[in-house]
Amino acid sequence: MCGIVGYIGAEEAAPILINGLRRLEYRGYDSAGIAIGGDNVTVIKEKGRIDNLQKSVDASCPSGHWGIGHTRWATHGIPDKCNAHPHTSQNGTVTLVHNGIIENYLEIKTDLTTLGYTFKSDTDTEVIAQLFDYLYDGDAVGTMIKVSNRLEGSYAAALLVKGHEDRIFAMKKDSPLIVGRGKGENYLASDIPALLPYTKDCYIVNDNEFIELSCDDIKVYSKTGAQKKAEIKKIELSIDSAEKGGYSYFMEKEIYEQPSAVKNTVSPLIRNGKINLPFQFPENFIKNLKRIYIVACGSAYHVGMTAKYIIEDMARIPVETDIASEFRYRNPIIGKGDLCIFISQSGETADTLASLREAKNRGVFTLSVVNVMFSTIARESDGVIYTNAGAEIAVATTKAFSAQLGVSYILAAYLAHEKGLLSDAQLEAFTREISELPEKIAASLKTDEITAKLAGHISRQEHIFFIGRGIDYPLCLEGSLKLKEISYIHCEGYGAGELKHGTISLIEDGTVVAAVATDDALLGKMISNIREVRSRGAYVLAVVKEGTEGIEDIADEVIYIPSASRYLTPSLTVVPLQLLAFHATVERGCDVDKPRNLAKSVTVE
Ligand code: AGP
Repeated sequence: MCGIVGYIGAEEAAPILINGLRRLEYRGYDSAGIAIGGDNVTVIKEKGRIDNLQKSVDASCPSGHWGIGHTRWATHGIPDKCNAHPHTSQNGTVTLVHNGIIENYLEIKTDLTTLGYTFKSDTDTEVIAQLFDYLYDGDAVGTMIKVSNRLEGSYAAALLVKGHEDRIFAMKKDSPLIVGRGKGENYLASDIPALLPYTKDCYIVNDNEFIELSCDDIKVYSKTGAQKKAEIKKIELSIDSAEKGGYSYFMEKEIYEQPSAVKNTVSPLIRNGKINLPFQFPENFIKNLKRIYIVACGSAYHVGMTAKYIIEDMARIPVETDIASEFRYRNPIIGKGDLCIFISQSGETADTLASLREAKNRGVFTLSVVNVMFSTIARESDGVIYTNAGAEIAVATTKAFSAQLGVSYILAAYLAHEKGLLSDAQLEAFTREISELPEKIAASLKTDEITAKLAGHISRQEHIFFIGRGIDYPLCLEGSLKLKEISYIHCEGYGAGELKHGTISLIEDGTVVAAVATDDALLGKMISNIREVRSRGAYVLAVVKEGTEGIEDIADEVIYIPSASRYLTPSLTVVPLQLLAFHATVERGCDVDKPRNLAKSVTVE
């Protein structure tokens, strides 16, 4: 996610802006820039680390007492100096920085181009600047309101407006923005860590509010232009805790960011009930498509396995899944006309990248699902769908996993519709359900309480089994991986129907078995499998949908998740499994965010 800072006061703005950006580095970024207000706005921006920006600022020594700054997490346009923020409008009426995604930026860009505007960057942000320019009538707040009425998507933007020197303006919808109140100076930031060295008196800007900052005044306006009172809150947080959004760990923060991560991922892919892919398949490609491969590592591979169940059931296209470290060396039988999908949070995983190159050498159409914009896998694929989960800091993936699931649902629906197996009405209904998923994921987060209660018992185990059938099976693999990789408890994910072919010999008195049983069609079979392990002394922790009957008598504990269409349930099932792993790890005193032996991106074989 991008980072925004702003300062207006008696001090030189540049050093305060840079320092604020450094405190937002944890949000992830690939370029940075500042703009210093004055008769002429000075813009300095650089690709790469903030140190690069610092060197340019040191060289040019921009002087001014108010300004804005930005660290960019690229979403539209490669990470380079041209696409870095701030962006200035064609007629210089506004210079601004933005965090968020403008979903209708292309429509607006087309309209403005016909009105004679030319664009320097590939960003959605520049569209905001040009639109402001076009609508500007001297009233900065009124123009922000008019701009906001045209924008669709999420934004937190800070603006320097010509004719309004010694002022900073801002507007906010869906992306975070905070005002910091000082003495004779005021601040803006995307997140609290950038403000804490200067003030703890903050105003948390609400959606559809507009801000006008001067040295000694904070004005807040509603969408109607009426002024509102800024309710100042005192933020009692350490900087470290603030970087984690008040949570104790990045993993916990990222688990709770899943509703917004999924929303920011699926929303741009759905327009008026139809699927809006950000790339084109070759003509007749889907019509003639006979086989799909999904290749990935670790948790991303578990997404691929889940996608297999959904795509095959909805689109009736055979899907083969493979771990990248095997795919790349097994001389796979693939060729022109096949589709290979590569899933990767980092976009840099060596085995996945090598598999992508192997597939391209064989003339396969390659599609990647990636979280880090313009990463190597993204750049080398024929088509890319980005998961807009924002920077994922914890080594154990959570919000990126959920965002990847969201893309899987979209792809399955697209393929089924293209194959004529999903009508327009069915597609619209399914995409509506997908759009409602963030709220259900938020509801699934309520399992935090029971998983925290169970964590003590779980944390004392040496061995834990996760068993499931159908679409629950890959979720068991994921639940097992989540728990083992951060708590170091030995876990195994297993097909519940497969247990009796050997592994059940390991079940003894007190062995913990997490039984995931969310598929109504397989519930009876799961109940039999639960009885099998229970009869051998297992302690059964069942994960089922609300309203599931016949479980409480055969399980020691039951975790209920919200009901959803069977295809979308994985997004709800994974939440308690993540929380269980998180709480058990905290109980064991292990390093939640940086587990031993692991890296966030495995860029070596
Ligand atoms: C997930 O919690 C692990 N950290 C790991 O399995 C990860 O999913 C795997 O290394 C793939 O990484 P990628 O998604 O960045 O390619």
